[in-house]
Amino acid sequence: MTHADHAALIREGTGGAGGTWADLGAGAGAFTRALAFVLGDVARIYAVDRDTAALRTLEREVGSVFPLVRTVHADFMGDVPLPPLDGILMANSLHFHPDACAVLAHAARWLKPGGRLIIVEYDIEMPNPWVPHPLPWSRLPAAIECAGFSSARLLGTRPSRYHRRVYSAVCDAIYSRPEED
Ligand SMILES: C[S@@+](CC[C@H](N)C(=O)[O-])C[C@H]1O[C@@H](n2cnc3c(N)ncnc32)[C@H](O)[C@@H]1O
Repeated sequence: MTHADHAALIREGTGGAGGTWADLGAGAGAFTRALAFVLGDVARIYAVDRDTAALRTLEREVGSVFPLVRTVHADFMGDVPLPPLDGILMANSLHFHPDACAVLAHAARWLKPGGRLIIVEYDIEMPNPWVPHPLPWSRLPAAIECAGFSSARLLGTRPSRYHRRVYSAVCDAIYSRPEED
């Protein structure tokens, strides 16, 4: 996929320019770059990953162009010190975790009420070595409902050479952050 594909997959889900976002499982930053491009110069983006080498690449290739992108070396299933977020992007990072509901419920703690969650995943049912825990579009509603999000809206799809196709979807946080309860 090209940068244009990445941007097209997420653009409509962001709800416009600006804001504070996190890209959980940002890797080398293919989608971080698209997010920064779509949100514009004023957006603050935290690119979170546990892979140091990938984050170095991200800093070099994305951070140099978009100075408001910050890398955070962390396991996003831990207690990552993130500010209240307008949005979270998870692109191809959920499928490394067997319990998508648990991951999404954990991520929801960082979202402001009404904050957005954009998911990009492969639309395949069967696991393989590269996608050990697939979350196809057909199984997304159960996972996000379980984690306390609104129903998901399909944003777009792109063919995938090895994994049938990629889809993107957006949903909203519908309950408040735990510390505000
Ligand atoms: C297939 S890559 C996707 C990278 C990027 N989002 C993209 O689509 O190009 C998945 C990334 O998620 C990261 N990841 C998976 N689980 C993670 C976790 N619990 N905490 C931090 N990073 C994680 C991996 O280190 C890897 O860089």
